[in-house]
Amino acid sequence: MTAQLTPPGAVTTAEAAAPYVPRHDVDTTAVPFRVADGVHLPVERYYDRQFADLEYEKMWLHTWQWACREEDIPEPGDFIEYTIVDKTVIAVRQPDRSIKVLNNVCPHRATQLVEPADAGTFGGNQIVCPFHGWRFNTDGSQSYIYCRKGFVPGSIDPDKMLLTEVRSAVKYGFVWINFDDEAPTLEEFFGTYDKHLGPMAMDRMRVRWWKHSIVPGNWKVATEAFLEAYHVMQAHPELAMGAADDDYNADGVPYFHHGMGHVDTTTPFDPEHPEDYVLPPTLVAGMEPGRFFIDQNQVLFEGTDGFATARDEYIADRIRDLPDDQVLLKFFEELYKYAEEADIPLPPLDPNISTYGFVFPNFVFLGLTGNLLFYRFRPNGHDPDSAIFEALAMQIPRRCDMDNAAPRREGPLEPEDWPFVLQQDMGNIYRQQAGYRSGAITHSTLSPKYEPMIFSLHSEIDRYIATY
Ligand code: FES
Ligand SMILES: [Fe+2]
Repeated sequence: MTAQLTPPGAVTTAEAAAPYVPRHDVDTTAVPFRVADGVHLPVERYYDRQFADLEYEKMWLHTWQWACREEDIPEPGDFIEYTIVDKTVIAVRQPDRSIKVLNNVCPHRATQLVEPADAGTFGGNQIVCPFHGWRFNTDGSQSYIYCRKGFVPGSIDPDKMLLTEVRSAVKYGFVWINFDDEAPTLEEFFGTYDKHLGPMAMDRMRVRWWKHSIVPGNWKVATEAFLEAYHVMQAHPELAMGAADDDYNADGVPYFHHGMGHVDTTTPFDPEHPEDYVLPPTLVAGMEPGRFFIDQNQVLFEGTDGFATARDEYIADRIRDLPDDQVLLKFFEELYKYAEEADIPLPPLDPNISTYGFVFPNFVFLGLTGNLLFYRFRPNGHDPDSAIFEALAMQIPRRCDMDNAAPRREGPLEPEDWPFVLQQDMGNIYRQQAGYRSGAITHSTLSPKYEPMIFSLHSEIDRYIATY
């Protein structure tokens, strides 16, 4: 790793940029290619192999991350595999219906017990190693070893030869894991963010579709494509509805809690108190909020089939011709009426509900009442130029459909196989990655007003690297 570069311009703008640096109380001066001011990010953060290794060792191995949805493993014996860089784990539903997460590694000679991204059911609640057939119960305990007598006494005792457990917790219908037993609890990790995530009732949602691609870019490049609205005017003209510059509100989400952010109500942006600011719901100047809401949802339905769904469009079609100032209220009135008739347990409207949010380090969501489109981004092994990009659509179904089998992951998809808004987002990832690697620029230059979430992400990564 080379020494930290001082990006040109950083000195002259440091003072102006200082108020925008996300605040935490950890000294990050020893972190290579660190976030040194509130405007510049050194390009090496996106392709330097050793920086990627630091992220893995200091961040991925110490942060909470979601491994699967609860509905992926509904019945005892059901399992699904999750990989993060070198770690591979299996989430398994136990006979008592609780969930355990086990290292996917045989203690005999390290064979992986299931394949990456594998899902299914362990017959007879037995996990069988494909190499020499050692067997384990679904709680990881030893069940059977062929020809025990040939091993040195004591060397394969049940307390030594078992599948070790990884710390896990269930929240919002997700199974979260953390490889660090000393890390803060999941409740501490979310902190006050729970006030905004809880009312969304994600635990009542069920996955409608789950797709993935391997993208030629760093996992942060992929994540950042979804951390600002500044690109909407150029990359998603249909969503900007022709508005640009002062007519389009691309204000970003400020540092919130542990690098996370969300959107709910409207407050003015104040650089002195960015923590108070949240994105206004109407992004296009002069457009009545209800009309914007209805029109944007139509594009998002056609362009994502996730943020807005056929159900929302069915409701919207009933009220589309009403006067502008009536559509928003009427939409929710009709939605709740429909939900009641169809026995869909929508949560009550809550001013704290987020329509957009970021859960550090790699989970972005956008949604309406009762449904969500969300993304997960992961490094693809140790290659800093490759990432696993996943998108999932969730919706609260009718009560009678709650226990339907969850769809398995599709893909890897080619870019043209995604809904068009996602194609627009993915189209710039490889261009950015190539540009960062080119040596033509030494840093990216961000707007603290439009792109603060990107600083939040990087600042929090530096906090982890400096801490562990
Ligand atoms: S490696 Fe698993 S039984 Fe030998
Ligand atoms: Fe986008």
